[in-house]
Amino acid sequence: MQLVLALAASAFTYQSVWACSGHDHDEEAHVHRRAPPSTHLTAPTRPLVWSDVNIIHTTDSHGWLMGHQKPSLPEPYYSGDFGDFASFVSHMKKIAEEKDVDLLLVDSGDLHDGTGLSDGFPPGGVDAHDSNKLFDQLPYDVLAIGNHELYIYANTLDMHTNFAPKFPGRYLSSNVNITIAGKDGKPESVPVGSRFAKFKTRKGRRVTSLGVLFDFTGNDKNTTVQKVEDMVKESWFKEAIHEEPDFFLLVGHMPVSHDNWPTVFNAVRAVHADTPILILGGHTHIRDCQQYDGRSIALESGRYMETVGWLSADLDERNHKKNITFTRRYLDPNRVTYEFHTTRSNRTFDTSLGKKITKGLNALAKKFDLSSLFGTAPRDYTISRDPYPSNGSLLSLFIEQATPAALAINNTRADIPNIVITNSGELRFDVYGGAFTKNDQLTASPFADTYLYIPNVTFGVAKQVLPTLNNEGANEKRSLEREQELYARGDVSMRYKRWLEEMDRRDGQEKRAAKNLTLGYVTKDGCPGIGDDTMHSPLPFFSSPDFVSSKPPNVTDDTPIDLVFIDFIADQLLQVLSSLGSGTNYTEADVLSYSPTLSNAVLGLYAQEAWN
Ligand SMILES: *[C@@H]1O[C@H](CO)[C@@H](O)[C@H](O)[C@H]1NC(C)=O
Ligand SMILES: *[C@@H]1O[C@H](CO)[C@@H](O)[C@H](O)[C@H]1NC(C)=O
Ligand SMILES: *[C@@H]1O[C@H](CO)[C@@H](O)[C@H](O)[C@H]1NC(C)=O
Ligand SMILES: *[C@@H]1O[C@H](CO)[C@@H](O)[C@H](O)[C@H]1NC(C)=O
Ligand SMILES: *[C@@H]1O[C@H](CO)[C@@H](O)[C@H](O)[C@H]1NC(C)=O
Ligand SMILES: *[C@@H]1O[C@H](CO)[C@@H](O)[C@H](O)[C@H]1NC(C)=O
Ligand SMILES: *[C@@H]1O[C@H](CO)[C@@H](O)[C@H](O)[C@H]1NC(C)=O
Ligand SMILES: *[C@@H]1O[C@H](CO)[C@@H](O)[C@H](O)[C@H]1NC(C)=O
Ligand SMILES: *[C@@H]1O[C@H](CO)[C@@H](O)[C@H](O)[C@H]1NC(C)=O
Ligand SMILES: *[C@@H]1O[C@H](CO)[C@@H](O)[C@H](O)[C@H]1NC(C)=O
Ligand SMILES: [Zn+2]
Ligand SMILES: [Zn+2]
Repeated sequence: MQLVLALAASAFTYQSVWACSGHDHDEEAHVHRRAPPSTHLTAPTRPLVWSDVNIIHTTDSHGWLMGHQKPSLPEPYYSGDFGDFASFVSHMKKIAEEKDVDLLLVDSGDLHDGTGLSDGFPPGGVDAHDSNKLFDQLPYDVLAIGNHELYIYANTLDMHTNFAPKFPGRYLSSNVNITIAGKDGKPESVPVGSRFAKFKTRKGRRVTSLGVLFDFTGNDKNTTVQKVEDMVKESWFKEAIHEEPDFFLLVGHMPVSHDNWPTVFNAVRAVHADTPILILGGHTHIRDCQQYDGRSIALESGRYMETVGWLSADLDERNHKKNITFTRRYLDPNRVTYEFHTTRSNRTFDTSLGKKITKGLNALAKKFDLSSLFGTAPRDYTISRDPYPSNGSLLSLFIEQATPAALAINNTRADIPNIVITNSGELRFDVYGGAFTKNDQLTASPFADTYLYIPNVTFGVAKQVLPTLNNEGANEKRSLEREQELYARGDVSMRYKRWLEEMDRRDGQEKRAAKNLTLGYVTKDGCPGIGDDTMHSPLPFFSSPDFVSSKPPNVTDDTPIDLVFIDFIADQLLQVLSSLGSGTNYTEADVLSYSPTLSNAVLGLYAQEAWN
């Protein structure tokens, strides 16, 4: 057995995936399929466990349909694009037919905001409108709405008008409505998709499905999010769950730990004490699994197409009291993984749909000019794998070098000493050494925030603002309130970072020292057995403050300076500044616009200057 596995592993190497045959005349494919890294990808070693009902799960894809394209580890482990994923799904469907079992494909939302494919559209466009036309070519059985579908009304409307009809009755928004002009022209609130779905699987199993969003408060005008605890009291809900199906498939954009799934679960259990309940969650971007009882399971499958989830349930047991045997697996989405589990070779793997989607992705990247080059990054800059401050910290690069340089361009106040303050959450993804393109800028720093300033703050006062802002995080009560408020508005960075920190602390140093595993996620969840499909050693983790600032100028305490900050933190900053005993109560009236440059342009402007 060992020998067979070892051979399988060496047959599926990264080289064989990326080597381009001389006959390939697909120009677009050549542009975007980057040169192979020197590393070989480790293949999985255990086949997937198939049962009566099996599920492939994606969530929080946020436009990462091209796969991760950088050569630094662990990125190549996530290099499968959505065309590869489509081929994988087709082969798995065929295997399910051969085994005569059910296989469902499920998505838990957040299709917007994250890469150039979703966000790189020209003025007048709608976020993710084009990338969704590639996403919707996959045979999803059930999909749920995410919070990132709701920050901008036009995006929600696009989902309602163009996306939902591609999956008739299966795009679910149980507690999310949109207000549109009704038949008589009057505003009317309607579900964005459908509230629930009842359907039969290929094998004839009856399924009742929901699509639930966590208690999100950051949604745009003319969209409505009903609290989960109120949703389960609705008469439509009670009617929908009344009839007993063979199993409940509860899909939703809600994490399986520390959120409201138990509210939905308990409402169903109150009516059906033993019916199997399969929950597919999302939103906190982590790999997680919980069992609320012995006849249910709840899976969450990461983010950014860094994870494809697998769930199997052995449902055909006669004893309705017995615990159900479930398995779950977190797959690294790359061709080595996909080929291993479908027992296909590089040559027999691609389906015509897969190739068509890859072509479509490359054509869209070209249309949006995503390869447009700002400069060449001299090294990797990370959000949490390097200490802050340090030369490898993306936060250090952004606030100490890039922001001051970008804001000085064409700025009449550039000669006046200043301090610039931003929140760390402004940065969303690492910057890797090599080409720094329009796509990289959109992934690293996607938020279009403006820079404001207050003139004439004495340096002695201004220099206290950053430590005071960060100290409020040290006050446990204030910090908890702030976290809850940010969480309700959709910020999951605290939860995601805590997950990374926990896996590094558990056995990061020891596993990395052994040097026999590559970097990646190392999951410990609430379900039995090992969840990760490919073994890794944990990514190093360094915590960073909630707020960071540029290097203070070398001036005396009584020197007046410009206090510059990002608009996202204006309220907190004004409060703190007023509390510092300068005698001034600062309000919005004291705030001016510092620069027309937006925060999402800063890294590109810097790269043009410093990385050319
Ligand atoms: C593997 O497949 C890809 C995509 O179809 C192709 O471009 C490449 O040439 C193949 N590599 C090998 C070694 O056959
Ligand atoms: C909400 O939508 C309705 C119907 O289209 C429209 O009349 C109304 O102005 C919108 N309200 C806001 C605040 O955008
Ligand atoms: C959502 O839309 C339905 C159908 O129009 C309506 O009955 C319901 O009151 C709406 N719910 C909310 C929370 O707005
Ligand atoms: C059944 O599952 C529950 C919840 O996971 C667990 O507490 C219980 O011990 C299990 N019972 C048996 C007989 O395995
Ligand atoms: C950080 O970069 C600076 C400037 O390039 C260099 O002088 C310094 O040695 C670097 N520090 C470390 C620890 O590499
Ligand atoms: C600075 O000004 C020049 C000349 O007007 C203009 O071409 C350039 O786009 C400006 N740069 C920025 C970042 O605003
Ligand atoms: C800055 O503050 C000083 C002292 O309060 C005042 O004399 C000066 O006019 C102010 N300058 C500006 C530009 O507001
Ligand atoms: C890696 O090395 C450690 C320590 O030497 C060992 O315990 C572990 O089994 C090795 N893992 C693999 C996958 O070879
Ligand atoms: C700060 O300025 C003072 C006075 O101009 C000067 O003596 C000192 O060397 C400067 N310090 C640094 C770190 O530049
Ligand atoms: C500061 O100004 C705000 C807004 O005008 C006001 O609500 C607040 O009470 C003022 N605080 C003090 C201490 O004057
Ligand atoms: Zn997300
Ligand atoms: Zn989300």
